[in-house]
Amino acid sequence: MMKKIAVLTSGGDAPGMNAAIRAVVRTGIYHKCEMFGVRDGYAGLMSGKIMPMGVREVGGIIQQGGTVLGSARAPEFKEIAGREKALENLRGLGIEGLIVIGGNGSQTGANALDQMGFPTIGVASTIDNDLIGSDITIGVDTALNIALEAIDRLKVTASSHRRAFLVEVMGRDCGYLALMAGLAGGAEMVMVPEIVVSPEEMVKRLKASYDRGKTNGIVVVAEGAKYNTEMLVQYCREHELPFEIRATTLGHVQRGGAPGAFDRNLATRLGAAAAEKLINGEHGCVVGLIRSEIATTPYAQVVGRTKGIDPDLFRLAEMMAQ
Ligand code: F6P
Repeated sequence: MMKKIAVLTSGGDAPGMNAAIRAVVRTGIYHKCEMFGVRDGYAGLMSGKIMPMGVREVGGIIQQGGTVLGSARAPEFKEIAGREKALENLRGLGIEGLIVIGGNGSQTGANALDQMGFPTIGVASTIDNDLIGSDITIGVDTALNIALEAIDRLKVTASSHRRAFLVEVMGRDCGYLALMAGLAGGAEMVMVPEIVVSPEEMVKRLKASYDRGKTNGIVVVAEGAKYNTEMLVQYCREHELPFEIRATTLGHVQRGGAPGAFDRNLATRLGAAAAEKLINGEHGCVVGLIRSEIATTPYAQVVGRTKGIDPDLFRLAEMMAQ
């Protein structure tokens, strides 16, 4: 049984990361382990920002967005020298295993350490929901609700002025957030990287929807869509349209929210499971939720790949836009 374990959060923060940190630390302590927190992700691991964490240190954080440990993107960690430095720091404190809460890039880093002989385990966390190994990752639900609130509000003002709105949401190269926000927000269309719709087609469909009597047209655009918001606005400006067009980019607003019940409980379940698995010697995998059950997926199946969207849901969103 492992006795000394560290935890870090890495990459883009996601609402629920704090609940996951809390679950990891408290589960470890419950099983009589000494727990450590690493500040600022892999950057802190390389510079030795590793501190002991007790049950009180993780008190009062379950409801907070962001990550109390801090996060960073650390390109130096891609170099072997950076990872060796990190291992030196971990081993210097007698730490035997590491839990990495994060998305794709973070799990790639965890895999690299695991391959170098240091046991690591991942907790699936990213608002993008592009990580293989979990049907839904920590932060997605909250980010989605934030996007939805914005869409609902934009719909109100759009209707008052009979305008169309392009609403850009995050998601990197994955259209999940855009698709689900569009579906839940009653959008006219969603523009996602996985299924390309041309600007001509977008305008055609918007015009048709105004002809059918609609007073607004919401198009949810994924940041990774082939035709991005700027290009779509430009296209609309260059063509005669029966409605005005406005664009709103939600950006990091989607990341900074307080986690909802779903994300807190998902994070608590995944964090606790990751800690128990690592303590019992399981490593080299990501802990996620698959068909509502806690599941592990080997890093080999996770890293260097991403999950796409469900085309049936895309079709459903189109079918609802009548
Ligand atoms: O991976 C999460 C995410 O918010 C993506 O949706 C987005 O593309 C990216 O991070 C933004 O990164 P940064 O916070 O470094 O600007």
